[in-house]
Amino acid sequence: MCGIVGYIGPDQAAPFLLEGMSKLEYRGYDSAGIAVFDGTEIHVDKSVGRLNVLAKKVDSHPLKGQLGIGHTRWATHGRPSDANSHPHTDCTGKFVVVHNGIIENYLHLKEKLIAKGHKFTSETDTEVVAHLIEECYQGDFEAAVKKVLEQIEGSYALVFMCQDEPDKLICTKQDNPLVIGLGEGENFIASDIPAIISRTRKTYILNDGEMAIVTKDSVWVMNRQGVPVTKKVFEVNWDAEAAERGGYEHFMIKEIYEQPKAVRETMTGRLAKDDSGVTFDELKWTKEDIAGIKKIAVVACGTAYHAGIVGKYLMENLARIPVEVDVASEFRYRSPIIDDQTLTIIISQSGETLDTLAALKEAKKLGSRTLAITNVVGSSIARESDQVIYTWAGPEIAVASTKAYTTQLIVMALLAIYMGSLKGTLEQEKARELCRELRNLPNQIHELLEDVEPIKTFAQQYGFKEDVFFIGRSLDYAVALEGSLKLKEISYIHAEAYAAGELKHGTLALIIEGVPVIALATQKDVYEKMLSNIKEVKARDAVVIGIGLKGDEQIEKYVDHTIYIPATDKFLTPILSVIPLQLLAYYAAVTRGCDVDKPRNLAKSVTVE
Ligand code: AGP
Repeated sequence: MCGIVGYIGPDQAAPFLLEGMSKLEYRGYDSAGIAVFDGTEIHVDKSVGRLNVLAKKVDSHPLKGQLGIGHTRWATHGRPSDANSHPHTDCTGKFVVVHNGIIENYLHLKEKLIAKGHKFTSETDTEVVAHLIEECYQGDFEAAVKKVLEQIEGSYALVFMCQDEPDKLICTKQDNPLVIGLGEGENFIASDIPAIISRTRKTYILNDGEMAIVTKDSVWVMNRQGVPVTKKVFEVNWDAEAAERGGYEHFMIKEIYEQPKAVRETMTGRLAKDDSGVTFDELKWTKEDIAGIKKIAVVACGTAYHAGIVGKYLMENLARIPVEVDVASEFRYRSPIIDDQTLTIIISQSGETLDTLAALKEAKKLGSRTLAITNVVGSSIARESDQVIYTWAGPEIAVASTKAYTTQLIVMALLAIYMGSLKGTLEQEKARELCRELRNLPNQIHELLEDVEPIKTFAQQYGFKEDVFFIGRSLDYAVALEGSLKLKEISYIHAEAYAAGELKHGTLALIIEGVPVIALATQKDVYEKMLSNIKEVKARDAVVIGIGLKGDEQIEKYVDHTIYIPATDKFLTPILSVIPLQLLAYYAAVTRGCDVDKPRNLAKSVTVE
């Protein structure tokens, strides 16, 4: 998720580009760049680091010109560096491109272009597009862009500039947002409304497959077949701050609603198109590699640690390899039994959590192979680890982690299928079934997010309780841990999660009349046992909110309220069952008037011990 902008009009482009990008830094902030046409040629200025690094460079060497594009980056392919920053150009410098998204078939296209003599200067997928348009150009900019779009696959929002046709910008989108701001004698392009709201409130929202030719006096939109499209003007009535949250009240709820896309993107290029299995280009493991792994140690903190617990169930069941899961601050000091036959998996959204980084170094010191699962390309943990799998959730701004957690679960599921298939412990048919179910998940999450009213009501009804319990068995217990952390960290309610079978060994003493208990019952193989635990707390007059699978007609007989999730494979239910718990925590915090995005005493990335 990057931020892109474009300007064409009578004013200097650079000031608008930099100001617009500053409003899009929540979309990505590891590097930035602009390109401006000065009437003769295009000049590009870009640098790694926050936007102010680039702004200082442009201040010292102003880029003059009334046509320009800009980009603030969230790295996916190629770590943050000057060379990998956007805009990207072709061999001649005549074509310049900025991009948000992932070009899935970029490696294949890059090999073909190199064979034709193109010289690449970055590791990015995007640079392929700049060389491709150079390859397709026969004197007609628009026709060349169309030829490029016929060849690239994946998700993209793209803006093109051409030195030979400086009276226009061409932009297009597929699965990533793009808006055009309509001005008087000038027009604007941006990934999102915050970038243009200070200059105009009249916009065109581009749809998938649409392409626009933007000049200073006109905006010409057509569909993929080149047929003109009449666009309706979308008048923006948000204030600038709300615009950064995309009209949502908080980044947390925005990120909860971004999960269908984050989950789909994280599976992109890893789930075989025919659902036959899973591949990881970044791993390329062999049967021998897997045979060499006698034990897996998963190490992380907070929400990432909870993702690791789900991973343990999946990897042990599908790949039959013993898995230990540790919080990093304990792992470092318990002299763990780790050696060169251990794979240590490090999970971290930020990639900067100090305890987790130190645990990684400890595991390496003990001779372990290391694999990081992180959301930030080029982060310390990514750089320190032998191999890395990135979650493609995009920047997560709210302190309470939501979309990073579900994408970490996706990677755990993909990894377990990948290792189980390589090891031969997972039948081909079961792998295929799991892949089919994985592909369904984005729509099922979408379905869950369509009706949040009942959850909002429960949060308002019980939001002022001071103690809440979460119970579950097996994978439901792992999700209960995450649900209770979410509620604790943003609503400040004292919430605890327990393995439901453990209650009668002490905690049941705390269950009194009216205490809310969130009971997850989505695991068929322990369902009856779970119902008896629900009866245990009901017998003490607890108020029970049950989380059950759609089609389960039993559970509502035993609980006070029921929230249903779509049915999926038992190993994948955590990706769905956590959604109502995220929403419950969010609406409880809103009900209590808490600072949802910046809860007290917490930081997004904990870089202290
Ligand atoms: C989760 O909502 C919290 N922000 C916190 O527990 C977090 O998961 C933990 O600090 C680990 O962060 P990381 O994934 O960036 O390493």
